[in-house]
Amino acid sequence: MRVILLGPPGAGKGTQAKMLMEKFKIPQVSTGDILRKAVKDDSELGRKAKAFMEAGQLVSDDIVIGLIKERIKKRDCENGFILDGFPRTNVQAEKLTETLRDMGQTMDAVIDLVVDPGELVARLTGRRTCEECGCMFHQTSRPPKLPGVCDYCGGKLYQRPDDNEETILKRLAIYERETAPLREFYGRQGRLKTMPGLGSVDEIFSRVCELVS
Ligand code: AP5
Repeated sequence: MRVILLGPPGAGKGTQAKMLMEKFKIPQVSTGDILRKAVKDDSELGRKAKAFMEAGQLVSDDIVIGLIKERIKKRDCENGFILDGFPRTNVQAEKLTETLRDMGQTMDAVIDLVVDPGELVARLTGRRTCEECGCMFHQTSRPPKLPGVCDYCGGKLYQRPDDNEETILKRLAIYERETAPLREFYGRQGRLKTMPGLGSVDEIFSRVCELVS
């Protein structure tokens, strides 16, 4: 099963991708996570990406396309994968289609999670992420049992540098300009499934599972 989770920053792509990964035993492939790890490791890739990410801008197409091409050819992706945060531009979507075609594959579904901007800002300003395992919490809607500590691995929770209101608004504007047009791209291919991203995480997960099975 090969699925793309589309949707603006804060729509719940990462949250749902982790749940799909558990249920279907296929990897979550998140360009955001790969880039954040590179920044943390201070690798050459991380040094190139850091300023763009902190400013809420997109990293160059060449960089992320290269990352994805390499990642989806790995053995753990043989039975499928969940793309979270990729593609984000028309060029990325076209290159993905081309790469999959060369591999004799296609995407099965593109799920577009729709959430209104006010809710997105509230979700992102309150998000706290585990430094160790990447699990996500929210200060009010999904607080950890102990403040600042991950329920699952005991790691320290941090606030992403791009999760402040000013940068969030920039990310939302870039999403509308660069990524929202992909609805049309995948709509034309007959793969787009649009659904509301409001409701409890479990309710949304049930609907996502219906759409992918
Ligand atoms: P990336 O990491 O992909 O961030 P994003 O797309 O901005 O998405 P988010 O991770 O912010 O949100 P999400 O939809 O995953 O929501 P989540 O589940 O966490 O990208 C970061 C940066 O990297 C980009 O700005 C760019 O610079 C670069 N980059 C990455 N990919 C790129 C690409 N392809 N091309 C170029 N540059 C790229 O949920 C958010 C919060 O809401 C959490 O607190 C969660 O607990 C809560 N929540 C989730 N679901 C619900 C619910 N149903 N109800 C209430 N709260 C909920």
